[in-house]
Amino acid sequence: MYSDKVFEHFQNPRNVGKIEDADGVGTVGNPVCGDLMTIYIKVKDGRIEDIKFQTFGCAAAIATSSMATEMAKGKTIEEALQITRDAVAEALGGLPKQKMHCSNLAADALRRAIVDYFRKNGNFDKIKELGLERELEKMEKGEMDDHGEYCEA
Ligand code: FES
Repeated sequence: MYSDKVFEHFQNPRNVGKIEDADGVGTVGNPVCGDLMTIYIKVKDGRIEDIKFQTFGCAAAIATSSMATEMAKGKTIEEALQITRDAVAEALGGLPKQKMHCSNLAADALRRAIVDYFRKNGNFDKIKELGLERELEKMEKGEMDDHGEYCEA
């Protein structure tokens, strides 16, 4: 059911943990299963210098987060925003369809961490420029998830 790469990342996940003095923190909840994901980022010169995750999610969530954080590390904010769940799943050699919703968690939490980073810096123009206003709105309202995007799961 899972590829060797998924197993490998599940058994030996990269970038697990918390960054105490993070520049941005993003948390999302998964309405399909109720699991939570938090991503922490450190940003330097517009690049993601360090990234860590914590999750209560399943094996697929752990493996996809491990892969997504590896993909994001060292990238510019703009590049990191291009990391889609499909790209993460592809890098892992595919995921069972019923597990695709788990792979959303890291990408969504990363987007929120980026919004939080700009928000902390008062850089609301950048949030607008990158089309992240919807995330900001949801974060300010304290909404943990994004139902519409998970419905097909
Ligand atoms: S089933 Fe909850 S994150 Fe995968």
